[in-house]
Amino acid sequence: MTMQDKINELLELREKARIAGGEKRIEKQHAQGKYTARERILKFLDEGSFEEFDMFVTHRCTNFGLDKEHTLTDGVITGYGTVDGRLVFVYSQDFTVSGGSLSETVANKICKVMDQAMKMGAPVIGFNDSGGARIQEGVNSLAGYAEIFQRNILASGVVPQISAIFGPCAGGAVYSPALTDFIMMAKNTSYMFITGPKVVKTVTGETVSVEELGGANVHATKSGVCSFAVDTEDEGIAMIRQLLSYLPSNNMESAPRYTCEDPINRLDDVLNSIIPDNPNKPYDVKSVISSIVDNGEFLEIQPMYARNIVVGFARFNGMSVGIVANQPNYLAGVLDINASRKGARFIRFCDAFNIPLVTLVDVPGFLPGTGQEYGGIILHGAKLMYAYGEATVPKVTVILRKDYGGAYCVMSSKQLRGDINYAWPTAEIAVMGGKGAVEILYSKDIKAIEEPEKKADFMNEKEAEYTKAFSNPYVAAKYGYIDDVIEPRNTRFRVIRALESLKTKHLENPAKKHDNLPL
Ligand code: HXC
Repeated sequence: MTMQDKINELLELREKARIAGGEKRIEKQHAQGKYTARERILKFLDEGSFEEFDMFVTHRCTNFGLDKEHTLTDGVITGYGTVDGRLVFVYSQDFTVSGGSLSETVANKICKVMDQAMKMGAPVIGFNDSGGARIQEGVNSLAGYAEIFQRNILASGVVPQISAIFGPCAGGAVYSPALTDFIMMAKNTSYMFITGPKVVKTVTGETVSVEELGGANVHATKSGVCSFAVDTEDEGIAMIRQLLSYLPSNNMESAPRYTCEDPINRLDDVLNSIIPDNPNKPYDVKSVISSIVDNGEFLEIQPMYARNIVVGFARFNGMSVGIVANQPNYLAGVLDINASRKGARFIRFCDAFNIPLVTLVDVPGFLPGTGQEYGGIILHGAKLMYAYGEATVPKVTVILRKDYGGAYCVMSSKQLRGDINYAWPTAEIAVMGGKGAVEILYSKDIKAIEEPEKKADFMNEKEAEYTKAFSNPYVAAKYGYIDDVIEPRNTRFRVIRALESLKTKHLENPAKKHDNLPL
């Protein structure tokens, strides 16, 4: 064989690996509205940046006649490349090879990129599209999953991990995405569940479709498993690139800073009239967010789940921040179990990756009732408190309106090491709202008045008295619990100044093996 023959052999092998499961299976994939594993990587990474590992890997299984069937790449494409010039590691399960199922060698390939990512301090992005454990390989496949899970756990909080679910992801296989930071799902073509509809029917008698059990809509609205539900893979791929732009490559770095074209001292008069005169009337806190951040750009996480709290990434003067905001437009912005979990997880991600937190507060308190108490709101609410209290990143808080009771303490209060806490003049910082306070403080007097009209007058008078005395920002300001009362239209400038002043913040928690967050 001449050298040229050997080079030709290499090129032929490469070509074979690129076709992997063959044209027919690729066509089937396309007919389902799905890209192939390789197409996903090429669309995701900067053009020409993909370097592939392990093209020549094949499985080692000899059961069920598999010793006669070997496909180059063996069901997953792996390697590295760049996104906006920054290094990332990728793996993409290839449904055209044994349904993207996970063999021992597929697991080895995935573990290799995860190990490289940890050495280099770079994010890992996994595209999932797989029939699960390679059935012919039995326990070797399960061991492979466990190897991946262990790496997901050790990488957590060290490098960002993002999972895109662009096909099936079922059984124990769901636990790798579950251990990562963000899960994206494509509507109509992806699903995630522990057991499929057939097993559900046998065990519980329930009849349920794949979509109803674990489709993108279900996980985006009901379970909260999914951070982003997208209509198309193209939309999803663009969104992961956008998400990465807000994140540092690892926990030792800061997020990249961008040039900001949006004037930092831009005033927005609309904010001076956004809070309705009636305290029971809602407004959309997302209008406040888009008014104050750079160019109005906000990447919301879990937008359809626990809508009473809004979380996501934005920039102030080019600096990446995590925004947490109560949403008066949904359940009056109350804190319930789901909102507490959603907020806590996001805050912990930001803290792990050195992303400052900006909190916008308008919260009537925790949601009362047996549903919440039996569900453990005490422990779940504590998660949110814990997340804020342990966070050492810069924390800037703006109280827009209500900030009542325990929710005052939780929502990045000064006492939970909030660094700079502002309030709008419309802030109501008190143990509770005026009406509730009057009903408790004057219950005997109210009972003693028989005439309904007189009773109402008395209550209104006392409520007005209480509101004047306590439902304002100045009592808290008097004690230094907030640093300043600011004009709403000037919020952007004040938040940017606060963040700039906190750039050199350094705070460490006491040394410990790990914390004992109330799970
Ligand atoms: C080996 C598999 C496979 C698997 C699919 N294939 N799943 N090969 N192991 N798990 C192969 C098929 O034989 C077929 O091969 C090709 O992939 C495409 O599969 P189809 O069935 O033709 O595709 P489709 O009709 O789209 O159905 C997709 C599917 C179905 C719903 C995912 O394939 C399916 O139900 N697969 C089995 C799922 C499963 O039970 N997995 C184990 C779960 S337990 P050919 O050669 O015909 O192209 C598990 C435990 C993990 O995963 C535990 C971790 C801790």
